[in-house]
Amino acid sequence: MKGKNCIVTGGNSGIGFETALALAKLGANVVILSRNQDKAEAAVKSIKAKSQNNQVDYILCDLSSQMSIKDAAKYISRDFDQIDVLVNNAGTWFSKLELTEDGIERQFAVNHIAYFLLTHELLSLLAKSDDARVICVSSDSHFHGKIHFEDLTLGKKYHGLKAYAQSKLANVLFVYEFDRMLKKQSISNISINAVQPGLVKTDIGLKHTISLHGLAWRVRRLGGVSPAKGAETSIYLASSMGAKGESGQYWDKSKPKPSSKKSYDTEGATRLWQICKELCAIDDYFRPLHIKQGSA
Ligand SMILES: NC(=O)c1ccc[n+]([C@@H]2O[C@H](COP(=O)([O-])OP(=O)(O)OC[C@H]3O[C@@H](n4cnc5c(N)ncnc54)[C@H](OP(=O)(O)O)[C@@H]3O)[C@@H](O)[C@H]2O)c1
Repeated sequence: MKGKNCIVTGGNSGIGFETALALAKLGANVVILSRNQDKAEAAVKSIKAKSQNNQVDYILCDLSSQMSIKDAAKYISRDFDQIDVLVNNAGTWFSKLELTEDGIERQFAVNHIAYFLLTHELLSLLAKSDDARVICVSSDSHFHGKIHFEDLTLGKKYHGLKAYAQSKLANVLFVYEFDRMLKKQSISNISINAVQPGLVKTDIGLKHTISLHGLAWRVRRLGGVSPAKGAETSIYLASSMGAKGESGQYWDKSKPKPSSKKSYDTEGATRLWQICKELCAIDDYFRPLHIKQGSA
């Protein structure tokens, strides 16, 4: 991974921290996206010390804000000519319905729209790599998910679990649709995959939850694996020769496996894609690639 440029969202804690650390240990240049300066600085310091790699940095980014995502992409473009690995990892869990500054339900915004928008914003840099890998951390929770097309914010009947499962199903639909579009355009130097990290002992269920949900998460995560173990599939997809060229699949324990029936709904994927484009005011999602190929 020496010389490869890797971006890991949510790299200041949990699975993202371990992913960033492993990539740094492999010699990559690593940038974590984090919304909190103190946490970002502490994570970068710790990754540098543990990996003995000084090519580790952070960019402040609130992934619930489209403006902040676009700003972060601008900083990345200023510092790097190409991106080889993008790990869309940051995720969140909210007990109560909250809307972002863009008017989007917060779990949908951070867990899904941020993946959709950041990948778009970095497409021209990804296109410059001869082996660009996009990894989207989803979850087996997506098996319980449904896209509530008529009420994406779930304003009529919000429940944190319902919103989380919807956002994680959206990840898988996005990955499959993105891959279909790459193939249609005969683009083979970019791959995209979804990951199920397993049940992992992190604080995700404690940060924005009511005390009952926080307690439930404390009990549930007792059966989980360590963040380092939970990061293994992301690391495999980001760095292994064995994963080269693999695209459009759902991975668990470093192997592809079937995802939910709803995730293979191509009409649903197209409909969701259209909605996400509208929510992000994107006209032509793949325009950065066409510009690169001189056919815009
Ligand atoms: N833990 C599990 O059992 C499990 C299972 C399946 C899937 N996953 C997925 O794994 C991924 C990583 O989660 P984790 O378990 O490692 O939890 P975590 O330790 O809470 O990590 C989540 C990361 O996302 C960041 N983040 C959240 N909201 C953000 C925002 N608005 N802007 C910027 N960064 C933001 C967090 O930053 P802060 O530190 O500032 O909050 C943190 O760095 C998520 O996508 C999650 O859905 C986890």
